Amino acid sequence: MINNNFKVANSKAIKELKNGCGYAVFSIERMDIFKKLRKNLFQALGVKKNMLDKVEDYRKYLSNLSNAEINKLMIRLLSYNEISEMFVKSCPTLIKNLCGKKLFIQRRAHTTVKLPGKQQLKTLPHYEMMSGISPFSYVIWAPLHDLDNDDGGIYYLDKKRSLKIMKEEHKEGIVNGPKILNMKINEKPASMQFGQAIIFNPFIMHGNNNFNSDLARLAINIRFQSYNKPLLQKNTEYLKYFELH
Ligand SMILES: [Fe+2]
Repeated sequence: MINNNFKVANSKAIKELKNGCGYAVFSIERMDIFKKLRKNLFQALGVKKNMLDKVEDYRKYLSNLSNAEINKLMIRLLSYNEISEMFVKSCPTLIKNLCGKKLFIQRRAHTTVKLPGKQQLKTLPHYEMMSGISPFSYVIWAPLHDLDNDDGGIYYLDKKRSLKIMKEEHKEGIVNGPKILNMKINEKPASMQFGQAIIFNPFIMHGNNNFNSDLARLAINIRFQSYNKPLLQKNTEYLKYFELH
């Protein structure tokens, strides 16, 4: 049984997504599943059993690795096959209310490790439509720890600002080209706690800037849409069918 707080929060998030700014921060409903997801992820990355709950220590360890070493670690995640399904099962009511029970979900949710420091690569401003994602899809992004002690989150531009920029670029016949990628956006990232996530539609521009911290930032994100909506995907292998109960 879903409690009333979740019902209210879910309908608020859906309103923001459909008629408001195009994104919403929400609380993850099934923290039991989400915590297990994080534990499994750390195990797949090779974190020792006695270190599984010491997230800050692990972030500290990651922050001293090179990008090549991080990439090597990410390959280990190929053994973690349930990440997408567990992520979707962590937010069942919101997803069901938005898309129904029958879904297309990203075959493998992305895990991102961002390292602090000015020399690190930024995620340039972009919107998900650039990768051939259908306009009926949604993205959920969730940090695997609190984000309030560093600036390592993602910034989002509301629907109005995002569409204005996209329309300007569209006149040149380009989708997410240099004009957008070279934009300097000094937006503050959404501050979030472990247990919160952000959902946004594929037209919302977002990215991240360099951040100062002693710790790396760890997050996961997934794309999904209703099974009953057209896919419009360039590559259907990207998604798989999944039913929520
Ligand atoms: Fe993105």
